[in-house]
Amino acid sequence: MTTQQLSGTTAIVTGASRGFGRGVAAALTQAGAHVVGVARDASALEEVREQLGTAFMPVAADAADPVVAGQLIDEYRPRALVLNAGAFPLPRPIHRHTWQTFSRNWEVDVQHAFHWTREALLAPLEPGSTVIAVSSGAALRGSPLSGGYAGAKAAIRFLTGYAAEESRREGLGIRFIAVLPQLTPETGLGRSAVNAYAAREGVDVAAFLADRGPALTPARAGEEIAGLITGPGHDQGAYLLGAAGLSPVP
Ligand SMILES: NC(=O)c1ccc[n+]([C@@H]2O[C@H](COP(=O)([O-])OP(=O)(O)OC[C@H]3O[C@@H](n4cnc5c(N)ncnc54)[C@H](OP(=O)(O)O)[C@@H]3O)[C@@H](O)[C@H]2O)c1
Repeated sequence: MTTQQLSGTTAIVTGASRGFGRGVAAALTQAGAHVVGVARDASALEEVREQLGTAFMPVAADAADPVVAGQLIDEYRPRALVLNAGAFPLPRPIHRHTWQTFSRNWEVDVQHAFHWTREALLAPLEPGSTVIAVSSGAALRGSPLSGGYAGAKAAIRFLTGYAAEESRREGLGIRFIAVLPQLTPETGLGRSAVNAYAAREGVDVAAFLADRGPALTPARAGEEIAGLITGPGHDQGAYLLGAAGLSPVP
């Protein structure tokens, strides 16, 4: 799908009120799509609408609710679906987690990816549609201060791969791609993790970030994810995403 083909189509972005999701919503509206943005905080969504104008439609809802997934897929039949919503993991070592805090990202991130992916296959979305699920670089390396976060993000990568295979087997023509962003202090979630890892290493945040190279910004993440949807030549099932752009997961 080219930028021109995105013009006039509808995209749904979960977690669109801030961070990467807001960057994706901005990039997709710039590419000509109408964007339905889902998050729980209505006032934060309203700010995005003020920024992006009428091409952005806010929907204040819990993206992990299966009814929300079913209703919005049925209503909008999006050409692009970006499953980006994610909960803040509680930044503590493993033994300081309870099962409830450990499993938070399973209940929110994985559950939401599961419901929306299932609805996209069942609808099914139009051939040529793209579903992008936001996993994490932590899915490859672990994240010892985030409870079940890394495992949850690995599960999202797997379920996206399973959905791609079902799409291929049934000839649906829907692309399913997992994106694994690097840790960045440029969003609230990332900043909380950076603060926790810096404190654990006994260094200040500037020292922790010093040898990590340029940070991934929400605007850059938005451009790259929009480029995955509109640009040719992206035929891999999963990509790492950093400040330098996308690279296939080895
Ligand atoms: N930042 C990083 O370093 C990093 C690295 C790798 C992967 N990621 C992943 O990238 C995604 C975006 O992260 P971010 O850093 O941009 O986080 P963020 O700034 O905290 O934004 C998270 C977004 O998700 C929404 N959200 C959370 N729970 C929701 C729910 N139940 N229903 C609907 N919306 C919900 C939030 O809005 P409400 O709270 O208003 O609902 C917000 O819009 C997440 O999946 C995260 O795990 C982030």
